[in-house]
Amino acid sequence: MTFASFVQDTDFINALYIVAFSLFAIGIAGLTGPRTAVRGNRVAAVGMAIAVVATLLYEQVGDWELIAIGIVIGAVVGVPAARTVKMTQMPQMVALFNGVGGGAVALIAWAEFRDRGGEGLSQLEFGIPLVFAAIVGSISFWGSNIAFAKLQELISGKPLKIPGGVFLNLALLAIAVGCGIAILAGSDNELLFIAILVSAAILGNTFVLPIGGADMPVVISTLNAFTGLSAAAAGMALDNIALIVAGMIVGASGTILTQQMAEAMNRTIVSVLMGGFGGEAPAVAGPGGETGGTVRSTSAADAAIQMAYARQVVVVPGYGMAVAQAQHAVRELGKALEGRGVEVKFGIHPVAGRMPGHMNVLLAEADVPYDQLKEMDEINGEFGRTDVSLVIGANDVTNPDARNKTDSPIYGMPILNVDDSQSVIVLKRSMSSGFAGIDNPLFYNPKTQMLFGDAKASVSEIVSELQGI
Ligand code: TAP
Repeated sequence: MTFASFVQDTDFINALYIVAFSLFAIGIAGLTGPRTAVRGNRVAAVGMAIAVVATLLYEQVGDWELIAIGIVIGAVVGVPAARTVKMTQMPQMVALFNGVGGGAVALIAWAEFRDRGGEGLSQLEFGIPLVFAAIVGSISFWGSNIAFAKLQELISGKPLKIPGGVFLNLALLAIAVGCGIAILAGSDNELLFIAILVSAAILGNTFVLPIGGADMPVVISTLNAFTGLSAAAAGMALDNIALIVAGMIVGASGTILTQQMAEAMNRTIVSVLMGGFGGEAPAVAGPGGETGGTVRSTSAADAAIQMAYARQVVVVPGYGMAVAQAQHAVRELGKALEGRGVEVKFGIHPVAGRMPGHMNVLLAEADVPYDQLKEMDEINGEFGRTDVSLVIGANDVTNPDARNKTDSPIYGMPILNVDDSQSVIVLKRSMSSGFAGIDNPLFYNPKTQMLFGDAKASVSEIVSELQGI
């Protein structure tokens, strides 16, 4: 047996796949905790590299030049982008990468159709997964682009109502499925396949555009699941076990994440996907505005005094902490308060920031002790016996309108009940709204004082004031 025939042997390739899948499993186990996450990521990446090499060993993989060009283009675009992306831009980067995965699947499906034609696709065990991959991959690509644009603030995060709404979406889905059925019945007409891709592309846009800011976490994780499922379907069609396994891992984890995000928002998945939430957001009132009332501002010195003599301080971080990169200063503040005997806890809302676990990642990076991080359900019972809640760049996740204003786009979303504490200090730069684009009555609550400025500068100032007390 020559070397070439040995490495191209199906048993050898399958053995490599088994090694790759084992590394995926070990990698995912590592992702369950912040201390092991980086290693877990690397282990899974090695697994993926082995799976790619194993796939390239297949005899029928022919066009090496094209593959090499693809790898070079991907690396030239992807590596610098991933290296230079700021932590605050990571969520949109993930949305973009996810979309590219879905787009690739849709293109593979198209290429297979061109290769094998309607007759090939009329073999249903091949045709059905391929049509599914084309529809769902295309929805995922275009939907992820809209999610990217919303997160990057290229378009407004507010819901954009599409005329026809759900009926338009159902019609687009019917067109895609109808064309798919015609192809499965043996039609060779490429226009039908293009119609599938185009109607699914429009559906990707019309499905994500009407979903309002605060509900975006559910959409992003749903799109994630879509990409995984479409890749798994393509794997079934191409009889590639690596694609099935990798696709199912993404599909299953995306589905679980969608479920968790929907629970965190107190929504059903169906209601979010039907665009039933996130109606037009009311205008944001300024200080003293009709919705507002009086805003009390404070200084770093006053904030330091209040916290220095507190028994318990709960820090509530949000997206603004990520923007300001304030996590290390926050860690210093925690240490300074603990040094004075103050009990310090962190209240983490499941959708604070712009990606799942965003706050946990930042605080772990700054070495905040993990046992100080409390999930929403755990910390909400604590606010009643908290002297000061320090809200650092969080907005929507503390908005009391979610509890009691039935026409609010975030009504029903569980929030961190910081207004149950004795006093609240909010660190942000202005009275601007958060991602959902709505006013926050917390800022006008008589218990609340606003410390305006960049979160990192404000926290550092509080830390230096504490040293003088
Ligand atoms: P947001 O409601 O978005 O509010 C962040 C606040 O940070 C803003 O009001 C902003 O006010 C302030 N800020 C920005 N830069 C700052 C800086 N340098 N220093 C101080 N403050 C700064 O954040 P949140 O409370 O974390 O809520 C997250 C929102 O994003 C929710 O609506 C959630 O549904 C949505 N979302 C979450 C995810 C996931 S999975 N986590 C994904 C997509 C969307 P100023 O401009 O006045 O400073």
